[in-house]
Amino acid sequence: MNISEKKLIIAIDGHSSCGKSTVAKDLAKKINYIYIDSGAMYRVITLFAMRNNLVKNEKVDENKLSHLIDQVSISFKYNDRKQGHETYLNNALVEDEIRSLEVSDNVSLIAKIRFVREKMVAFQRELSKDGGVIMDGRDIGTVVFPDADLKIFMTADVEVRAIRRYKELKDKGDTVSLEEIRENVKKRDYIDENRDESPLRKAEDAIVLNNSKLSKEEQLDWIIAKMNEVVK
Ligand code: DC
Repeated sequence: MNISEKKLIIAIDGHSSCGKSTVAKDLAKKINYIYIDSGAMYRVITLFAMRNNLVKNEKVDENKLSHLIDQVSISFKYNDRKQGHETYLNNALVEDEIRSLEVSDNVSLIAKIRFVREKMVAFQRELSKDGGVIMDGRDIGTVVFPDADLKIFMTADVEVRAIRRYKELKDKGDTVSLEEIRENVKKRDYIDENRDESPLRKAEDAIVLNNSKLSKEEQLDWIIAKMNEVVK
């Protein structure tokens, strides 16, 4: 059986803005797998909390959020024109909004809340029950799928990541400085790695992919080679 038929579960974890989602998306398309963006889920909850004024001065009103979270429905729908999935909050398109710097600045505060994580992990497992999935995030290989068929830990140098993110936001018309982005990237690394709930860690059996100097194609070839080893 080849990798497309085998319907593996591929976990891709790693630092913010190192291109996990781009690689995961391209790979899913190439081998006909489902791509699941777990970070988008935490971003949706963050947007929801912000809209309900539950985030103030770097603090989240967890009590209120715990009562309101069941009102949140997250879905992904395919956009033919963009040739990719987009994220919806209660059936309203929020794809651009969840990528804004405001949401990026607050998302780590939401992602460290235990009941939020429990709910998201259950949803991620439910979406993946038939296999053939590539999921990217921070705790996919450690918590969501400790038995994933292949675990990849992706990273890249801070400066490389900051420049990539800067270009991305600039293309969208956001007026942010490289310094702001660099600080945001560093801050997110720190919070992601040091939180009590499911901190970002390389799973023992994950393979490291540092893509600072690799093209997208080289990364895809690298992962496909690892997948082929798994099904051998
Ligand atoms: O991958 P991303 O940058 O879109 O993720 C947004 C935030 O969500 C990031 O600060 C880390 C957090 N996150 C997480 O804690 N666990 C995941 N599985 C995915 C993302």
